[in-house]
Amino acid sequence: MADIKYRKGKTPHKREYRLIFRNIDREGWDPSLATYEADGGYQMAKKGLAMQPGEITDEVKASGLRGRGGAGFPTGVKWTFIPPHNTKPVYLICNCDESEPGTFKDRYIVHQDPHQLIEGMILSSYAVGAHVAYIYIREEFPEGARILETAIAEAREKSYLGKGIFGSDFDLEIYVHRGAGAYICGEETGLIESLEGKRPYPRIKPPYFPAALGLYMSPTIVNNVESLCHVKHILEMGGEAYARLGTPRNTGTRILCVSGDIKKPGYFEVEVGKVTLGELIYDICGGLKEGRKLKAVIPGGSSAKVLRADERFIINQGDEKVEIGVEDIPMDFDTLMACGSMAGSGGVIIMDDSRSMSWVLNNINHFYAHESCGQCTPCREGTLWMQKITDRITNGSASPEDVETLKSVADNIEGKTICAFGEAASWPVQSFIAKFHDELVADTDEANADSVVTPEGMLATADLK
Ligand SMILES: Cc1cc2nc3c(=O)[nH]c(=O)nc-3n(C[C@H](O)[C@H](O)[C@H](O)COP(=O)(O)O)c2cc1C
Ligand code: SF4
Repeated sequence: MADIKYRKGKTPHKREYRLIFRNIDREGWDPSLATYEADGGYQMAKKGLAMQPGEITDEVKASGLRGRGGAGFPTGVKWTFIPPHNTKPVYLICNCDESEPGTFKDRYIVHQDPHQLIEGMILSSYAVGAHVAYIYIREEFPEGARILETAIAEAREKSYLGKGIFGSDFDLEIYVHRGAGAYICGEETGLIESLEGKRPYPRIKPPYFPAALGLYMSPTIVNNVESLCHVKHILEMGGEAYARLGTPRNTGTRILCVSGDIKKPGYFEVEVGKVTLGELIYDICGGLKEGRKLKAVIPGGSSAKVLRADERFIINQGDEKVEIGVEDIPMDFDTLMACGSMAGSGGVIIMDDSRSMSWVLNNINHFYAHESCGQCTPCREGTLWMQKITDRITNGSASPEDVETLKSVADNIEGKTICAFGEAASWPVQSFIAKFHDELVADTDEANADSVVTPEGMLATADLK
C-alpha cells in the first residue's frame, strides 16, 4: 500500500490494512477493466481456473473467512453445503442490497472497483460449480448497476465471461438484477424470491436453506459483496497466510463503517479484532465532538444490540477470563457476541450524551415498521405497535407502563417469525429497554420528553410525528 497514492484527504489511516479497499479513493484509479488489469487484475482468476474447484474451496476454508453480510458464517463451509450428488444447476448470488442502516461499504466496491467483485465472483462460481451468477443490487444504487453492467460488458468482450473463459472449458455468465427497494430483499431467501420475480417474502428455513433449495429450487450460494472480493485475496496470499491476518477464528480484514456522533465518520478497513472500539473511536475517527461524552454504540448495523458506554463485560482471553469495558472491546465477531451484541454488517453507530435514546429507538422502530414484509403476524403487527409506543414516548404522551408493554411486544416477536427480521426488529427494543430503561420511562412524562436531543434529533422527531 505504501506505493499507492490516494486522493487528497482520502489517505487511509495508519491503523488500516487495505485489501478490499486498496483501490478505493486511489489517485488516477477508475473502474475500467484496463485500469484493473494494468494493476495485475484478473491474474488470480487465471490462476484459479487452472486449479481444481475443490482446491479453491479448501483455500477459502483454510483462510477462516467469515461472511461480511451480517451473520459471520464461514464462507468455505457454506460452499460445501451444496448437496454432493446434486444434478440441478448451481447458482451464485452476490448480495449487493446493502440495506442494513449504518452500513456503507459494498457501494464503494461497486462504484470504484467493480472488476475486483467480478474476479471474486468468477473464482467463487468456479469453486461452487455455478455457470450463472447474479448480482442483486438495491434499487437505490442506479449508478452502481450501470457501472456493473459496463464492467460485465468489458469482461465479456475480452472473454473473461461467457463461454470457455480465459481459454478454459469453464462457462460463466453474470447478470445484474436490480431490486425494487426493500430492506427485506437483503435477507437471502427474500432476495431469491425477488430475483424469481415475486414479492420478496422470505422462505422458512428449514427446508429452504439456499445451498440446498435456493433459486428456482436449485442449490444457490448467497454471499455478500465484500465476502466475494476476499476470495481473490485469499488465493493470492494462500488461505493459511490470510488466516494470519486478524485474530484466530476472526481472520482477515473487514471494513467498518462509522457514523453518528463522531468527528471523522467514514469507512476503515482493519484487521479483524486488531482494533478496539476505543481505538476506532478516538484514534481512527478522531474522537467525539467537542465537549461530548460517549453514551452508547450500536456496533454492527441497526439490528445489533446497543452497548452502553459504562458497561463491563467478562470475556475469555486465551485461557483467562478478563473484565473489560466498552472501549476495550476488540472489533471481532466472537467478542462482540460475548458482549451481548454482534459485529453484523460492520456498521458502527456512535451516540454521544446529546442523544435522546427514546428518539434513537423511535427512529429505528420507524424503519422496521416500514420494512416488515408483512408475512408473519408478530412482525407485521408488532413492529407497528413498537413504533406507535415510541412515538408516544418521544412526544410525551406515553405512560410509564408503556415501556413494559413495548418490551412484551418485542419479546413476542423474537423467535416467532419466518425470518431473522423478527430478531433484527426486536433486539434494538429489548436492548434499549434493558440499558436505558429509566431514560425511556422518564420520557413518558411530558415534561421530560425529548429533553436531551440534538437539533437534528428534534428535526427528525418532528418529521416522524
Ligand atoms: C433482515 C435481513 C437483512 C439482510 N440484509 C443484508 C444485506 O443487505 N446484505 C447482505 O449481504 N446480507 C444481508 N443479510 C444477510 C443475508 O441473509 C445473508 O446471510 C448474506 O448475504 C450471506 O452472505 P455472507 O455469508 O457473505 O455474509 C440480511 C439478513 C437479514 C435477516
Ligand atoms: S419476520 Fe417480518 S420480514 Fe421476516 S418474513 Fe416475517 S413478516 Fe416478513
